[in-house]
Amino acid sequence: MQRTIQTLILTHDPGLVTEFTAATDDIGDDVRFVLHVEEDERRAIRHATERPVDLLIVDLGQDIRQAKRLAQELRGVDHPPVLVATYRRQEFDGEDALSAGLVELLRSGLRDFLSRPLSRPEVQALIDRELLARGEQNPRSVGKVLSFVGSKGGVGKSTVGINTAVGLSRSGSVLLVDASIQHGVAADLLGLTPEATLADVAREVDRLDERLLAGLVTEHSSGLHLLPAPSNAIDAAAVDEAVITRVISVARRAYDFVVVDTFPLLDSVTLAILDLSHLTFTVLNDSGPTINGSAELLRVLERVGVERSRSRVVLNRTHPGRGLGITPTDVATRLDRPVDHVVPYSRSVLSAANSGKPRFISLNRMGAWQRAINRVVKDAITATISPVNESAPTELQPDRSRIQAATTGGVEHGAQ
Ligand SMILES: Nc1ncnc2c1ncn2[C@@H]1O[C@H](COP(=O)(O)OP(=O)(O)OP(=O)(O)O)[C@@H](O)[C@H]1O
Ligand SMILES: [Mg+2]
Repeated sequence: MQRTIQTLILTHDPGLVTEFTAATDDIGDDVRFVLHVEEDERRAIRHATERPVDLLIVDLGQDIRQAKRLAQELRGVDHPPVLVATYRRQEFDGEDALSAGLVELLRSGLRDFLSRPLSRPEVQALIDRELLARGEQNPRSVGKVLSFVGSKGGVGKSTVGINTAVGLSRSGSVLLVDASIQHGVAADLLGLTPEATLADVAREVDRLDERLLAGLVTEHSSGLHLLPAPSNAIDAAAVDEAVITRVISVARRAYDFVVVDTFPLLDSVTLAILDLSHLTFTVLNDSGPTINGSAELLRVLERVGVERSRSRVVLNRTHPGRGLGITPTDVATRLDRPVDHVVPYSRSVLSAANSGKPRFISLNRMGAWQRAINRVVKDAITATISPVNESAPTELQPDRSRIQAATTGGVEHGAQ
């Protein structure tokens, strides 16, 4: 059966229509494009509201606000189009501004980007992925992105994050991205020896799509897929915010859950992760300096647009017995917000770490530790997804200045 793709292009540039026609002319007999062109934003919105549009292409120019408005206006329509923006690299004020702009648009609900002049393979891959491969009129909704962050090393971000990912794999497909780029432990904790890492993804980033990603991940016996951290510092240097943004945005189309483990450093990579996360779990343990550092981190998160509804606090007991005598109420008072989850100390977490079997799956009976992780898993499953980071700054700002602005006052870094 021939598939008709109703395509609307919003542009002042007739050259874009010519490029699109040329890029799709040999796409196959089973697909037909019906092309509409609008120059005016209001008319384009009215068109897409009143008639079904499968693919809406908006030419960015130097201003991303039009594409953002379009995404917002079309969110509630009966037949939401796949919204794609085209851009010319040279119209942005450097790579920082470009990647900040693209991240912001992804958060607003754009599906993808095409750089101009349009390339035939890129356009065809996008159409295949977004409109044909699924055989549906509407694109699949994106998976949930969950990140685990903390202001200090050794508080249990990886332990809680990885075990949550394993727990989630019972409810859906999961990709665990080990973005603790310099010190990734996920492969070791899962007892895996992956062939490819995030550094391989970085090399292929320009042509990364779901199919390529599927070839680079390693499967764990729980069913979870892992994209591990690079194996050395030189490889790690290749993984920047553009790479991580691309990985997460491709992965969230392919998996029900994308779980991201991070390193305790608020750099542009972490910021890109936060921007794309539906839910961010701030993990802290019960030591005084960590609680102060976490209070500051939580303030920073709010300043960079991670609002309360997308933020959770996990108090992870890494000390045995009564710990350091600090109660969840003490922690909540010092953080000036509730503690959402308390994970108890468990001696076998350590032995599980050494055996390469996550504690979550090596247990036969349900203990307090596992019940706590189950609650984190349930929270991740049931939390309603709201479009990510709508309250983020609307102007394009290079990431570095956002970090500077958000961290005046300082975040604590590094191991305790
Ligand atoms: N609830 C717990 N009970 C006992 N030990 C724990 C618990 N949580 C974590 N640990 C242990 O604490 C150590 C640090 O944990 P983990 O590596 O998860 O921390 P992290 O915050 O990811 O550290 P980094 O910032 O270095 O990546 C590990 O040895 C881990 O096994
Ligand atoms: Mg870690």
